[in-house]
Amino acid sequence: MSLKKIGVIGTGFIGLAHIDALRRTKNVEITALCDTENVKEKAELYHIPQAFSDYQAMMDQLSLDAVHICTPNHTHYPIAMYAIDHGIHVICEKPFTARLDEAEELAAAAKKAGVSAAVNLHNRFYPMTNEMKRQIEQGKTGDVVAVTGGYVQDWLLFDTDFNWRLLSKNAGLTRIVGDIGSHWIDLAQFVTGLKITEVMAEFHCVYPERIFTNKDGSQKSIAVDTEDMAAILFRFENGALGNCFVSSMQAGRKNKTYLTVAGKISALTWDSEDSNNLEIGFREQPNRIITKDPNLLSPHAASLSGYPGGHVEGFPDAFKNHFQHFYETIDHPDMIPEYASFSDGLQEMHVIEAIFESSKTRKWVKVN
Ligand SMILES: NC(=O)c1ccc[n+]([C@@H]2O[C@H](COP(=O)([O-])OP(=O)(O)OC[C@H]3O[C@@H](n4cnc5c(N)ncnc54)[C@H](O)[C@@H]3O)[C@@H](O)[C@H]2O)c1
Repeated sequence: MSLKKIGVIGTGFIGLAHIDALRRTKNVEITALCDTENVKEKAELYHIPQAFSDYQAMMDQLSLDAVHICTPNHTHYPIAMYAIDHGIHVICEKPFTARLDEAEELAAAAKKAGVSAAVNLHNRFYPMTNEMKRQIEQGKTGDVVAVTGGYVQDWLLFDTDFNWRLLSKNAGLTRIVGDIGSHWIDLAQFVTGLKITEVMAEFHCVYPERIFTNKDGSQKSIAVDTEDMAAILFRFENGALGNCFVSSMQAGRKNKTYLTVAGKISALTWDSEDSNNLEIGFREQPNRIITKDPNLLSPHAASLSGYPGGHVEGFPDAFKNHFQHFYETIDHPDMIPEYASFSDGLQEMHVIEAIFESSKTRKWVKVN
């Protein structure tokens, strides 16, 4: 595999997670960082040779193989398009884009340019979510009849909690659905291999105004134009029924993605806060827990387990697995990509748009 030179754009919460994971990915080198704030300090701290405050200058001046886009949602489209226009591979954070038309343009442009382009829907790359997929593929679960769960956190519980995500000009069409619902929707479709065909959604905004605290301690009230939580019903292409609850206002739940896929033989349950275990429920025999141990997993899931059983792996490892897989598929076109491509990102944006429409009309909406 040839060495890939990478630029990371956006060095906030998730940009640093990308740097961490890339440092554990084979045959890659972080050549440059780009951020509009404090980028020189961060590049020095992480011993990354170049720092830019303008992503266009970075891509113009350096011969990069790939960029990782870790900036707020509304900036994904122009940055990804600039990279594609320069023949640079892209890993873009979720939600793919702020609006559906941007997703359409990017998916088409990536295909035309022949660059590899992924959305960082990293939940696909836990060993135990991959095992879920394999069990379903092998028919061990039986026909899927229901897909249920949610994604809950508590970091926006108080009206004094504020973040750029709260405003649609940064977040896009939806806030909580795009922000964390995108992970659940992708995981549900990925593990079952079933597309969502119809949705019905109810949104709730608990705080239409939140209090923003300036650096000098003064405060002001800001109107919020996005949803704090959403309850969504789904119909899948095989007729299976599903539901998902998403909220960042559930006290005590720090970052919990939970998914149950119920089939005619067994039901599989995975919880990101206990990510090394997969529960298999049965009616006529005792339930089982499969623990992350490469010796006990299907070959593909085992390949995502970096350490032997008993050595806990989690969120940062799923990022590393994703990036390793992405860069390997560039050098080995015979490999079947399992990452969420820009086409998958576009399909998910259609689901998100249908959810948004349903929240307005309060009716079932078919996914385009
Ligand atoms: N995959 C995941 O689990 C996950 C988790 C968190 C965030 N995210 C996604 O990552 C993205 C960033 O979220 P975050 O929580 O890291 O936000 P953040 O606010 O912590 O960081 C964003 C960074 O981008 C920089 N930035 C903004 N505009 C820029 C521009 N035009 N050029 C260069 N830098 C720019 C900001 O200065 C900041 O440092 C969002 O799209 C978010 O949805 C994904």
